[in-house]
Amino acid sequence: MTTSSAPGKIILFGEHAVVYGRPALAVPVAQVHADVEILASDLTGIWIHAPGVNLHAELNTLPFDHPIASVIRNFFFLARRSSFPNGRGARGEGKSPNLQINITSSIPVASGLGSGAAVTVALVRALSSHLNHPMTDEDINSFAYDIEKLHHGRPSGIDNTVVAYAKPVYFVKGQPIEVFKVGKPLTIVIGDTGISAPTKESVADVRKLWEADNTKWESMFDKVGEIAKHAREEIEIGDWRLLGELMNRNHALLQEMTVSSPELDTLVEAARKAGAVGAKLSGGGRGGNMIALAEAEKADDISFALISAGAKNTIVARIS
Ligand code: PMV
Repeated sequence: MTTSSAPGKIILFGEHAVVYGRPALAVPVAQVHADVEILASDLTGIWIHAPGVNLHAELNTLPFDHPIASVIRNFFFLARRSSFPNGRGARGEGKSPNLQINITSSIPVASGLGSGAAVTVALVRALSSHLNHPMTDEDINSFAYDIEKLHHGRPSGIDNTVVAYAKPVYFVKGQPIEVFKVGKPLTIVIGDTGISAPTKESVADVRKLWEADNTKWESMFDKVGEIAKHAREEIEIGDWRLLGELMNRNHALLQEMTVSSPELDTLVEAARKAGAVGAKLSGGGRGGNMIALAEAEKADDISFALISAGAKNTIVARIS
């Protein structure tokens, strides 16, 4: 049996502007994860069990664009081309391996916590190890980016990068990955609006704004980029006060980009009232999650305030 796990993630600073080449900061969230188990099977074919999404099926019965099936098919396509041992096709060429793949995940779907990237990374890591050809983080990251492009249009690549490396990442699209240090552990309370909002749509809406007034939005993205750079320094030093202020400023700019929502604003406000050092939406926006920077002893109060203000769920994440 081969097992593998990949964490969820949150974007601390710089979402949306990152699509336009500005830096963004993202960190793994180990409290939630996708887990994959692969076993040799007596049944013919590749059987996938993902009870969380009610999936129990043989690979060949799944549609071409099925998110999990497309990861496995692309993996075997790559395995054939790279001549992995036992990497014969999931369809076609040679005898396919008979496998049972079990997938579980505690990461909420379509809420900005990187659930798709985590399933892809855990799946590819487990499959490549099972075929005695473990892939490097770099190769897994590039594979996961190709998968993200299939489903999300023009992603920056930040999700797959932070999930594949499972480290805090200072991310600039198209540049080599930079890991950053966390000077003093951060306590982040994540509040889920319970509204699933496709990132593809908010990214497309921001693009329309940018197309209509290039100059205005380029300067907006510059401001976000400066905030992300400054935030990295404060995280490395461990100065939370300023960091909270930067979060608030980043949220205001995301509101101007039209990617917040009444529900997100309510939760952000509730967190601040309950004593958060700063708060903002995280990820694509319009729904999904917001994050609040907290002093460790205030995390439970903030969590409670978020639930009282309508959050469907909260996670207290320690980032170090
Ligand atoms: O919604 P998430 O967490 O997958 O984050 C998307 C981040 C964006 O900057 C909005 C899009 C991107 O591709 O970077």
